[in-house]
Amino acid sequence: MRAVVLISGRGSNLQALLAAQRAGELGADIAGVISSRGDAGGLPKAAAAGCQVAVLEASDHTSRADFDAALSRQIDAWQVDLVLLAGFLRIFTDDFVARYQTRMLNIHPSLLPALKGLHTHRRALAEGHSEHGCSVHAVTPELDGGPVILQSRVPVRPDDDEQTLADRVLREEHRIYPHVVRWFADGRLQLHPGAVLLDGQTLTRPLQVRAGDPLPV
Ligand code: GRF
Repeated sequence: MRAVVLISGRGSNLQALLAAQRAGELGADIAGVISSRGDAGGLPKAAAAGCQVAVLEASDHTSRADFDAALSRQIDAWQVDLVLLAGFLRIFTDDFVARYQTRMLNIHPSLLPALKGLHTHRRALAEGHSEHGCSVHAVTPELDGGPVILQSRVPVRPDDDEQTLADRVLREEHRIYPHVVRWFADGRLQLHPGAVLLDGQTLTRPLQVRAGDPLPV
């Protein structure tokens, strides 16, 4: 199975996916990495790992549809089975989502459906949440709105600031994302428009773990 990872920034989830691949635990080869920014910290990490890399910047495209068409061309040129969003700061056209919906995953730093969008750690603290976390989910046209597959819950501690909380969540992101990719690569996870199946059963609610707990087999 061949995967592409889409990034815009530092690429720590990309690194976790690459580490899982190196350890033989991903079940997929990361064939290429596409960044929406030429200065993304993840790009040198991708190149060092021997991945093909491409940069597609919004400023080089006249519209969202034009950008997404170029993105599709690059993804399809690499002939990948799976599209992994890992901090890709772009909102897609419905056409793009429709094209990849059955083979695209995202990682989001909150316990969806809580805290969709940006600055989730800051908002969790400001809103006084006692618990926070991260979610791997299928992608639908609604931003951060697709069916959630696996979540990890972390406590919010009284002395947390945005950074300490982000670090605690990120450790869990790096555990759960490669794990869900493995399910997909092994053919156990199927993404249908409107439903996600694991081992042939529709997931009616996300699987959940707590920080550091063993992941569901
Ligand atoms: C992560 O927190 C991810 O959940 C969110 O964007 C951030 C990307 O971080 N979608 P990194 O580039 O993987 O380090």
